[in-house]
Amino acid sequence: MVTSSPVEMPVKVLVVDDAPAVRETVKKMLELYPEFHVVGEATDGPEAVEASQSLQPDVVVMDINLPTLDGISATSEIVRTSGAAVVMISVEGETEYFRRAMKAGAKDYLVKPFSPDGLAEALRRAVGDRQVSMRGAALGKAAAVVGARGGVGASTVALYLALLAGTKEKPAYLVDADLELGGLELFLDVDPPLTWEVVVQKGWTRQPERIREGLGEAGEGRVKLLGAPSLPHLADVVDGPQKPEAGRSYVRETLESLRSLGGPVVIDGGRGFREGQLEAMEGAQLVVVVTTPGVHAVAAARKVLLVLEEALGKTAGEMAVAVNRFDPAQPPPWSDLEEALGRPVSLRLPLEPLLPVAADEGKPLLLEQKKSRWLEALEPFVAETWTRGEAPLEKPRRLLPWRKGGR
Ligand SMILES: Nc1ncnc2c1ncn2[C@@H]1O[C@H](COP(=O)(O)OP(=O)(O)OP(=O)(O)O)[C@@H](O)[C@H]1O
Ligand SMILES: [Mg+2]
Repeated sequence: MVTSSPVEMPVKVLVVDDAPAVRETVKKMLELYPEFHVVGEATDGPEAVEASQSLQPDVVVMDINLPTLDGISATSEIVRTSGAAVVMISVEGETEYFRRAMKAGAKDYLVKPFSPDGLAEALRRAVGDRQVSMRGAALGKAAAVVGARGGVGASTVALYLALLAGTKEKPAYLVDADLELGGLELFLDVDPPLTWEVVVQKGWTRQPERIREGLGEAGEGRVKLLGAPSLPHLADVVDGPQKPEAGRSYVRETLESLRSLGGPVVIDGGRGFREGQLEAMEGAQLVVVVTTPGVHAVAAARKVLLVLEEALGKTAGEMAVAVNRFDPAQPPPWSDLEEALGRPVSLRLPLEPLLPVAADEGKPLLLEQKKSRWLEALEPFVAETWTRGEAPLEKPRRLLPWRKGGR
């Protein structure tokens, strides 16, 4: 069971630097603050990656110049594979280094020499609001749902995944990251009390407790909804030119905060590749690509899968395909479709005439106790999603998308 302890525990720190003198200095500095506890040291990138998995630190103090795997690559790996935050330390004050470090997912960047207070502050900021102790609390897993094309049902799948995964005791966090045109609140017939641009403007992205308090309940208490910006241009406050601080990744920070609250996180990633959407896919442990069985949607789904694989380095176990709205009277040739996608189809979701009605009325089927083959097809996937492991990577075998009636 996932629980979060309200007791304050020391922040676990891993110190990574190839120079023993620097490691000593950092340790001495941190001894001044009882809230920090150095749990280990590493001298190069691979060691740091391994230690961040075995020792589960809350935060890693990482030298940028390391032998074998450099600090920046090690940072991406750590951010991707462990829940730890990374604070970069460097003798280089250049903006290019700073930019690369932040892009790799570092939370902060300190130029040597720094003061003990400067270090402590950076570590506090990096681990965010400590009201909820992240130690001992398993991070909730995040699943992002993205559409291959418009209208294929990405929002619908995200909505029902969250409703099925959440309970009154432990609601799911449903996040509308379709930043320009999202409108999940309409499916639930609520007004989102908290929307993305507000979280960013109030400076709450690293403060899980604040976000939790701000979120309203929906779906009979099964979900807590973070709404899309109230107007399309406000998306730029979250991930565009209007961001309060250009170097920050607010979407990533917010998702990490939500995950630290322990419940399942389901993200409606909309479709397309704007910065925030990429951050959402990057920050999710599972990305579900939704398509319909048609040739054009399947071809687009294939492109999305390639972006996930090539640009975001997702493994096969981190991606799933949902084929939505197929006609049960005339099901598509699944094996051809899988060949065209280069991936197995994890979810076969039939046409369900009740869905658009439920969507328009803001009354999800699940809550109306309506029986539905569509829901029955989704249910087993939900249990599996939050316990899913790695599967071997499968490369696309056919270059052309699946076409009806032949190869
Ligand atoms: N399996 C299905 N059978 C019938 N209707 C469906 C099915 N899945 C989704 N729909 C309906 O299709 C419409 C579009 O779905 P939805 O909004 O989830 O798509 P989307 O991919 O999020 O679209 P957008 O690109 O606008 O974000 C909705 O009215 C929804 O109820
Ligand atoms: Mg949508």
